[in-house]
Amino acid sequence: TGGITTIDPGYKNTGSCESAITFLNGEEGILRYRGYSIEELAEKADFLEVAYLLIFGELPTQDQLNKFHSDIKEESVVDDDVKKILDAFPKSAHPMGVLSSLTSALTAFNPTTVNVNSEEDMYNAIVKILGKFPVLVAWTMRKQKGLPLNYGDNSLGYVENILKMMFEKPNEEYKQNDILLNALDKLLILHADHEQNCSTSTVRIVGSSHAGLYSSLAAGISALWGPLHGGANQAVLEMLEAIKEDGGDTHKFMNKAKDKSDPFRLMGFGHRVYKNFDPRAKIIKVAADDVLADLGIEDPVLDIAKGLAAEALSDEYFVDRKLYPNVDFYSGIIYRAMGIPVEMFTVMFALGRLPGWISQWKEMRARKEPIGRPRQIYIGETLRPFKEISER
Ligand code: SDX
Repeated sequence: TGGITTIDPGYKNTGSCESAITFLNGEEGILRYRGYSIEELAEKADFLEVAYLLIFGELPTQDQLNKFHSDIKEESVVDDDVKKILDAFPKSAHPMGVLSSLTSALTAFNPTTVNVNSEEDMYNAIVKILGKFPVLVAWTMRKQKGLPLNYGDNSLGYVENILKMMFEKPNEEYKQNDILLNALDKLLILHADHEQNCSTSTVRIVGSSHAGLYSSLAAGISALWGPLHGGANQAVLEMLEAIKEDGGDTHKFMNKAKDKSDPFRLMGFGHRVYKNFDPRAKIIKVAADDVLADLGIEDPVLDIAKGLAAEALSDEYFVDRKLYPNVDFYSGIIYRAMGIPVEMFTVMFALGRLPGWISQWKEMRARKEPIGRPRQIYIGETLRPFKEISER
């Protein structure tokens, strides 16, 4: 076994790296980006500012932020041939699969982003993806809706333009809705990084072979797609809808989630690190209430969600296992109020997590981390002689 005596499934107790980007304390529900609390950043900063903070380590001055945004805007055109790849997908394709493919394809149109051996090369690769990724997100949604592909308006703010690209319709004046703009900005900040989660660890290990940034990000998007990870925000809404269709009996679904013979899990509950509350879920829950109230929307699934959360607080199974709502539990309720299709929810998670993935990849390369190559304990066959097919 080469000296390995124990393994750590899911790396539950294995540290993969040292990092100066995000600090979280699962017991106390603390989350900080570069030392700033998530509560303050969600309240006082905007998403592009937080992206700058994560990637470069400091909150930008106004001049630094203006230059960052204008460099990004200069790189916000996607090679038109990418549309041919998008065209090849059926409308029914899941947007996460489309987004991962288009992100990987960007390498072909931006080959200088693979060997980022200088700060300048790294900076160029970063502003290119921050400029092009929102276009891919908008095109992925518009493809699903059969809408023409577009470019929004670069005179708008970063998140403002994302909303315009996603929602503008031909022959219609697009009206910005500040409630939705503020809600999306806050959601993207809350999703921006989360230390060594599954998709970030994926981005790091793919990048550790010195594969390019965009192929590393494409791998991270694939990891995020899983329903145990970012895909949970779609699974939560599908679960809440199922409970509503079934008559709203939350107790019945709680029992299903506790029944070991039933594969059903209460999606949006539980977390590998947060063994108390997820501070992001607390903020998103308030934002969901505010957005629905401001928009005058009565969404029964929010009441079902609150019912589940309340019931879990006094349920021995959930309390014993410290299972509380996580970041994915309430976010989909806001996305739905914004008119975003449920299959696009995890794409929105990826949009938020992009600066985090970039910052972690950049740190991994700057620290010259070795190629990721874990060990194993072999439990297979001992040596045996080859058998001719006639003897098998
Ligand atoms: C994200 O890592 C990150 O930071 C991720 C993330 C980020 O920002 O990047 O925070 C984003 O992915 C949030 C999590 C989204 N996933 C879900 O909501 C899916 C449902 N949650 C579970 O699948 C689970 O809680 C995980 C995946 C989140 C955590 O899984 P762990 O740490 O591997 O825990 P586990 O599966 O070993 O569960 C421990 C116990 C088990 O019971 P016992 O075997 O001890 O009896 O708790 C039970 C589990 O069966 N359990 C659940 C449950 N989650 C755990 N039972 C019912 N419903 C659940 N949701």
